[in-house]
Formats: sequence, structure tokens, C-alpha cells
Amino acid sequence: MMMMVMSSSSSAITVSNSACARQRESFRNKLNKNKNKSVSNRTMTIRAEADRPATTRVPPRNPEGMPDVPPQDIASRPRRNRRSQTVRKAFQETILHPGNFIYPIFVHDEGDENIPILSMPGQDRLSFKTGMIKKVAEARAAGVNQVVVFPKTPDRLKTACGKEAFNPQGLAQRSISLLKDTFPDLEIYTDVALDPYNTLGHDGMVRSDGVIMNDETVYYLCKQAVSQARAGADVISPSDMMDGRVGAIRQALDDEGFSHVSIMSYTSKYNSAYYGPFREALDSAPPPGSEGWKIPKDKAEYQMDPANVRECLREAALDEAEGADIMMVKPAGAYLDIIRMMKDNTTLPISAYQVSGEYSMLKAAAAAGYLNERAAVLESLMAIKRAGADLTLTYYAIDAARWLQDS
Ligand code: PBG
Repeated sequence: MMMMVMSSSSSAITVSNSACARQRESFRNKLNKNKNKSVSNRTMTIRAEADRPATTRVPPRNPEGMPDVPPQDIASRPRRNRRSQTVRKAFQETILHPGNFIYPIFVHDEGDENIPILSMPGQDRLSFKTGMIKKVAEARAAGVNQVVVFPKTPDRLKTACGKEAFNPQGLAQRSISLLKDTFPDLEIYTDVALDPYNTLGHDGMVRSDGVIMNDETVYYLCKQAVSQARAGADVISPSDMMDGRVGAIRQALDDEGFSHVSIMSYTSKYNSAYYGPFREALDSAPPPGSEGWKIPKDKAEYQMDPANVRECLREAALDEAEGADIMMVKPAGAYLDIIRMMKDNTTLPISAYQVSGEYSMLKAAAAAGYLNERAAVLESLMAIKRAGADLTLTYYAIDAARWLQDS
């Protein structure tokens, strides 16, 4: 019967339907024949066991005005497998787990107060000495034991080439080191790119004609990666999209004795408007250019075009060959097709970044009362995992972990 239904000709379907109907008819007849016998047998067993008769269910009442419609003659009713909470749980294909979340944290070194990020309600630039430790302890208590650290560099430390990125006593390095000392089993991811340290706001160095310089940038990214590994980072995450950076960073790490330190590459990072709130959080948006120095206003020269799919396979093939351990898709929600495409074309784990703009949209809609925050957030994270993400970076990590505990 299945074979006939699978065939696409409509006559085969008609035949199979009526064959089905005949089959069901004969099954019903058999049932009816045995009915009295089996019911009385069953009743006797129950009496013997519990000394009470089986109750007859009161038939449910129909709403007034319900049309009198004969039952559809269909064998397959998918709704049977969605009938109850228990049944739905039994068939659930995707299960969210806090162990798959990575919590991105912003840190600063200007006093002991946390500084709220206005465009990301509920998220702060954390004081790295106090607030950061408290927040990470909270995350761990909720089951989230992975963080990625983003330092807010004061303007006075920013330069055109972003050398602060590899200062062994830089804020990122001190934060990583303090986290490792406080929580030795915490999995610490870092961001590798020059934008938080660069006066010109780009992930790479900017030449006067506006060209983002690739190989010179990679040279500094390698120094940045090694300095982070020295401070105690477990996973180096280049987010800059320069060509050849994964292989170069792998080599630099290995040369310095950090062959055990992993690389999570931002493999498919799109030139997205959803990074807006993050750039406010770190004050890292590119400034306007001047007469003598052109500064590209966006990152389209190195981040991927949102119109493209196949490019992600090209980037993935390179990153895999260059030694990446995890490959990321970013943003997540609007790029579920890319997550799936990457997942189907590699055996490496895939991560996805639910970015600042996705967080802020959910927060804003929830604050306005337009969405149920908990349900919408868990659904968004479910969709990202269903698309193929093994790991999800999300500012909702702690909330979602708690919601999952209560559910
Ligand atoms: C920096 C970097 C960005 C994000 C992560 N690393 C911003 C950018 O590329 O401009 C965005 C994260 C977010 O929006 O949450 N290279």
C-alpha cells in the first residue's frame, strides 16, 4: 500500500485508498466479531485484579451547530502523534540543552559597576573584576559552562593598527586569565579581530584608499591568538573574515606550544545589519572617513553577502583544510539555510551565533507585550538547533537554561 501511495500517479492513489478502505472494513468486521468476547475477558481480568468494573467513558458533547460530517476515509492521521504532552515528548527530534549554549560577555575595566547596554536590555558591560565573575558563576549554576569574552577597549588605547589586541596585559587577556584561575573547568572562547582595538572600527587594518589589508592583519591576528592562548583561552575564535587566517593562527598556536587550543572559525559570517547593538556595546562601529583617509562604512569587503549560499561551502572547505575545529554561521535566525547547508557538508561541529540584533528584537517585542518572551526565545533557539547547530552563542543563554530547567 505504501508503495502505491508513494507513486505519484493519481490513479494509484485512488486504487490504494479503496484498497485501504477494504482492508479496514475487513479488520472492523473481525474486531466486531471478537468484541463481546474480548471485552468480557478484559472485564473479568480487571475485576479479578482490582475488583471493579471497567468504566464506560461518557461520550464528549459536541459544540452546538457542529455540522454532521461523515469521517474522512484516511488511514494516516498525523495528529495522533501529537495527541498529548507525553506523546509529543516521546517523538521530539530536537532537544535543547544548556550544555550547548555559549554565553557572550562584554567586559570593561573602568570601575566596579556594571554598565547597562541600552540597545540590549538585560545585558551589561560587566566590570571584569567583580560583575564578570558573578555573572559567570550565575551562568554555571544554570548549566552554562562556556563563555566568549568581548573587551570594551577605552578610546585612549585604540590605534590605527590595533596593537592593543595582543597586549599581554590587555583587558581581554586579564579577563581570560582571571576566569581561568577562578573557574578552571570553564570553556573560554575568545574573539580574534581588530575592531575593538582599532580607531578605524574595522576588523582589519585600513589603508588610506579604504582597502582592508589582509595579510598584515593576519600577522597581528596570530599574535592576538597566541596572547589569548597564553592567558588561558581554550578556543580561539577568529571573527575577522580575513583570508588564510585559520591556517596561520593554527600554525602560530602550534609553534608556541598550544596545539591543544582549539579554533572555532567564524566561517560564514555575513555582512549583517543585526550586529548594530553589539557595535554600540563595544563602541566599535567604523567612524566616517576623512579627506585623506577613506574608511568603508560597512564590512562588505570581507564579510559575506547575505544574497549568497554557495560561498559558505567555499569558506567551509578552506577552514576545514586549514585546521578549524568548529565552524560558525552568523547571524543565526535569518541564516538557518546556511546552518543546514554547512551541517550537510562537513563532519565538523557547527556553531551558530544568535547575534545582538536578534536578541534586541526579541527583547523589544517582549517589552512591548507583542510576544511571549520565554516561548519566542526557546522557539528561536530550537529552530537554530533543528537547522543543525551543535553549539549556539546566545545572549539568552542564562535565561534559556533556567527556562529549560523549569519546563
Ligand atoms: C567583531 C565581532 C562582531 C560580532 C562578533 N564579533 C561585530 C562585527 O563583525 O561588526 C557581532 C556579535 C553580535 O552582534 O552579537 N569582529
